[in-house]
This record gives sequence, structure tokens and C-alpha cells, in this order.
Amino acid sequence: MVSLKDKVIFVAGGSTGIGRAASQILCENGAKVIIGDINEKEGQVFAEQLSSEGLNIEFFPLDVTDFKSINSCIDNICDKHGAIDGAFNNAGIEGPTAKASEYKLDDWSKVLQINLTGVFNCIQAETAVMIKQRRPCSIVNTASIAGLVAIPGAVGYNSAKHGVIGLTKTLALELAAKNIRVNAVCPGFTESPMLTRVAGASKKIREQLFKSIPMKRIGQPEEIGNAVAWLLSEESSYITGVALPVDGGWMAQ
Ligand SMILES: NC(=O)c1ccc[n+]([C@@H]2O[C@H](COP(=O)([O-])OP(=O)(O)OC[C@H]3O[C@@H](n4cnc5c(N)ncnc54)[C@H](O)[C@@H]3O)[C@@H](O)[C@H]2O)c1
Repeated sequence: MVSLKDKVIFVAGGSTGIGRAASQILCENGAKVIIGDINEKEGQVFAEQLSSEGLNIEFFPLDVTDFKSINSCIDNICDKHGAIDGAFNNAGIEGPTAKASEYKLDDWSKVLQINLTGVFNCIQAETAVMIKQRRPCSIVNTASIAGLVAIPGAVGYNSAKHGVIGLTKTLALELAAKNIRVNAVCPGFTESPMLTRVAGASKKIREQLFKSIPMKRIGQPEEIGNAVAWLLSEESSYITGVALPVDGGWMAQ
């Protein structure tokens, strides 16, 4: 357990996968969680299910490419809860698999818009409020192992995730003296709807993935969620500007 009692935390991209698992862990550790996601159907049902179990969680429909929708969600959070203590900027898409020379400009723009500009939009809306509050805050952005090294066939995704790490470090330095910490998690291959879309049910692809991971298993979304909860908690109070791999040892190779 980490101490997140009564912390108000916004999760962008919390309807499914890693964001969903993280949201549940944050709630179970005492936080008030507000999920913002484009997938209204799954997010709403998930929030209602956890609320019915006594956890403090709400859903707000938003698109991270639309600054106004994020800003309106953050305003709503502050009106209702008085402040925002933390944010997990996790929304993302995988984009197509294609060589850089064949990668379509539309795909490039879409992946960059959601995976990188989306994080920038969230950070701008969140920090506008956090700076005025003058209290310790923590932001965690989802990068990837593809933000630390390149995975061939994913030029848009690699570029966006490398960008998320640059964005994280820049904000960490600019906000350190204001007691706002900014870190990134870099998940390795993790069970989620995204992994299913990329690897599908293909036994061959999954076997190749297993072989490439030192711990010889795919990560569970809760294992990323636990790292996120720790980075959002006071237990990591002297850590900022870090890009933390949570990858079963993949980056150590
Ligand atoms: N699963 C993996 O192996 C893996 C590895 C490294 C990094 N990641 C990253 O983890 C994050 C979560 O992915 P996941 O694996 O849980 O997949 P996922 O598809 O289950 O989750 C992505 C979430 O982002 C939301 N989203 C997408 N576009 C959005 C938009 N425009 N506005 C608001 N919300 C939007 C989706 O609705 C979904 O809830 C992503 O940033 C992804 O790049 C995943």
C-alpha cells in the first residue's frame, strides 16, 4: 500500500488496459479518481462498478487531442474537489506497423497528436491549476520501452514516446522548485487491449515476445499500475524527471 488518502487524481486514458488497472489501484489506496477517456461506454460502466463497491471514482468523457475538453474536466474536478493532487497521462494508440518509408503522413499525424500532443495538452491544463495551488503534486506520463529504444516498424509510436520522455524531463526541471514532480513510466509488453490488437492471439508472436523478455512473461497492467501509484504517492517524494522501465528486465539487455 502507498499513501494516497484523499488525493484527487486525474487519469487520462483510464477506461481500459493499464489506465483502468492503475485507476483501480489508486482508488484502493485511498485516492479520489477522475477518469477522462474517449471510450465513454467502458469508462462509465467501470466507474459505476467501482463506485458501487464503495470506491471514489468518476468518469468524464474527453479527447486528449481537444484541449478544451481536458480543461473543462480539470475545471470540473477543481470545482467539485477543491484541488488536484496528481495526474496519470496515459491515453495512447499504437498506430500502424509499417516501415518509415511507407508510413502514411495521416497515421504519423494521428499517432503524434494523441500520444505526444495529448500528453502536452493534459500537462498544460493540469499545471495551470497545480502551480496556483502551491502544494506538492505529482504527474506521471506513460511513455514506453519504445521511448527509450526504437522498435522497427513503429516510427510514429517510437517518435511520440521518445517525445513523451523529453516532455517529462523538461517539465520536471521547470516545475521542480514548485514541488510539482513529473515522471514517466515506460511499460514493456503488457497485457491490454492494445497488446491484443498488436499481437492478437498469434501464438508465434507471443512466443517471440516471451523469448525477448528476461522474466519470460508478459507484464500485467496492475504491475504498471503499482509503479504509477508509487510515483504519484509521497513515498517517491524525491524522484522527478525519471523514465522508469517496468518491463521484466527488457531494457537491461
Ligand atoms: N500494452 C503495452 O504493451 C504497452 C507498452 C508500452 C506502453 N504502453 C502505453 O500504455 C498506455 C495505455 O495503453 P494500453 O496498453 O493500456 O492500451 P489501451 O488501448 O487499453 O488503453 C489506451 C486508453 O487510451 C484511451 N484513448 C485513446 N485515444 C484517446 C483519446 N484521443 N482521448 C482520450 N483517451 C484516449 C483509450 O480509450 C484507452 O482507454 C498507452 O499510452 C500505450 O502507448 C502500452
